[in-house]
Amino acid sequence: MTARVLAGKPVAEAVLADVARRAAALRERGVEPALATILVGDDDASAGYIRIKQKQAAELGFVSPHAHLGADATQQDLHRAIAAFNDDPAVHGLLIQYPVPGHLDYDAALMTVDPDADVDGMHPLNLGRLSVGLPGPLPCTPAGIEALLAHYEIPVAGHEVVILGRGATIGRPLAMMLAQKRPTANAAVTVVHTGVPDWDRYTRRADILVAAAGVPGIIRPDHVKPGATVIGAGVRYEGRRLLPDVDESVAEVAGAITPRVGGVGPTTVAMLFRNAVAAAERATDVTNPA
Ligand SMILES: NC(=O)c1ccc[n+]([C@@H]2O[C@H](COP(=O)([O-])OP(=O)(O)OC[C@H]3O[C@@H](n4cnc5c(N)ncnc54)[C@H](OP(=O)(O)O)[C@@H]3O)[C@@H](O)[C@H]2O)c1
Repeated sequence: MTARVLAGKPVAEAVLADVARRAAALRERGVEPALATILVGDDDASAGYIRIKQKQAAELGFVSPHAHLGADATQQDLHRAIAAFNDDPAVHGLLIQYPVPGHLDYDAALMTVDPDADVDGMHPLNLGRLSVGLPGPLPCTPAGIEALLAHYEIPVAGHEVVILGRGATIGRPLAMMLAQKRPTANAAVTVVHTGVPDWDRYTRRADILVAAAGVPGIIRPDHVKPGATVIGAGVRYEGRRLLPDVDESVAEVAGAITPRVGGVGPTTVAMLFRNAVAAAERATDVTNPA
């Protein structure tokens, strides 16, 4: 059996088309949606990621004011740059490029971001909103996975989802999301990790298996129920080489599977812009109640 390939690009394109339409609607009302970015240091890869996001922001109808701090910036410098964007009513979303140089505390900086402008959806207040079912920016990778499953009409409601990994970025928030009472969720969710040494006992019965461990090749064909959907989210980089959690041979057993490259990644970026346009809409409704 060769699995159906769940490419992220068409999902991202559909989400971004909606974002562009909403951004245009804001512009028609005289609001210029703004996604601000902060880059600290001179890492080429990080600077490249910021350029890509700024280019995409422009294509979608956003402006993206930018602050570039030197590699020797202090934690206070970073907090000052965040506060300046927080205090600017023309800025709706804020992105701090991760990672920041080793002497800086990213989590401490994230705590100072206005939660309503947190386009990564990772501020503790937003994770709290998610846990109690209040609206707010959603963590991008889990939201992208839910959108991917919905786009390809993979049945989730009432089905068994097993997530390998309980990390703050993917496993934990995704478990909360897919267990919620919504048509694209509503699943029986199990989370496994290093505390469950026989985790394959659970993954083998999953209708949908999400790999979010960051351990190259950890998911092999014998861990997967024949015909199951397998979403590879965890990756490790060795230099520029991407090493995914899901071994390529899993495609012979799975019914549907994300590709080695171009699966969850593009949907993650699309969700960042969905959070950004939603932030601009919220801010506008507050400042211009219509
Ligand atoms: N594709 C994307 O767009 C995207 C975006 C963000 C992150 N990621 C990737 O997603 C992965 C997960 O990130 P995260 O921040 O959510 O998680 P994380 O904090 O890196 O945690 C990894 C989780 O996997 C579990 N794990 C690790 N080795 C294991 C093993 N041998 N057996 C069973 N469980 C194991 C850990 O268990 P314990 O809790 O017991 O230690 C932990 O719960 C990372 O590889 C990250 O690079 C991808």
